[in-house]
Amino acid sequence: MPLRDLPAGSARTYRPAAGFDYFLPLYDPLMRLLGGDGARRALLDQSTIRPGERILEVGSGTGTLVLLIKRLHPDVVVVGIDADPKALARARRKAEREGIAIQLDCGFSDQLPYAAASFDLVFSSLMFHHLPPAEIGPTLREIRRVLKPGGTLHFLDLARHLPADHLHALMSEAGLGDPQTVGERSMRFMRLAYHRASVARGAVPYCVTDSSEASPDSFTAAVPAPRPPAAS
Ligand SMILES: C[S@@+](CC[C@H](N)C(=O)[O-])C[C@H]1O[C@@H](n2cnc3c(N)ncnc32)[C@H](O)[C@@H]1O
Repeated sequence: MPLRDLPAGSARTYRPAAGFDYFLPLYDPLMRLLGGDGARRALLDQSTIRPGERILEVGSGTGTLVLLIKRLHPDVVVVGIDADPKALARARRKAEREGIAIQLDCGFSDQLPYAAASFDLVFSSLMFHHLPPAEIGPTLREIRRVLKPGGTLHFLDLARHLPADHLHALMSEAGLGDPQTVGERSMRFMRLAYHRASVARGAVPYCVTDSSEASPDSFTAAVPAPRPPAAS
């Protein structure tokens, strides 16, 4: 699959949903045919969504999962972010057709333009196998940053792409606790794995050093100051 350049002078690249832009119109029908709707529904079924919660999908593509969440839970705030403006445009059209209010943003998974501790749940559906290996750890760290204490990541991806042990180690390194595989499922010729990991309720939230919410660079982790050496 090619890496596609972002417009507007950005040097960054990403893998679009269907590999090539001209296949994008086929993505939704093909996913439906392969059983994608049931696979995403199973991801939602592993979560508990409560009224008033703020929910993010990272790599939301053409918007099928974010729209499903809002359809099933109209009383939550739903945000989707994706690097591909074309996929986002499709998602926006789908939301407008259905009259569903969701926020859709263009951006990268390892530079989330959201305040620390601002989401109760983060979902990721079939996005991680689109990331270069070097972006997986930074993406998990960003997800941990935007999750509130007690918040949970619900994760679905190709089982063979990220072996569970490796993924769980990366989740732990990112500060996500209790990483676990909660299920597997076949989608035609692909094996899917479902994982989850949480931020402990008493965890120190990341804090914002700047009152603006604009740049992830303005966030730093609120870690305890190092102790002075004990007097001898
Ligand atoms: C296979 S699609 C999955 C879309 C959607 N989650 C679903 O379940 O259908 C993967 C998506 O990840 C997006 N993506 C790839 N790299 C990304 C990155 N670094 N940050 C944000 N989105 C990215 C692609 O543009 C694509 O829309």
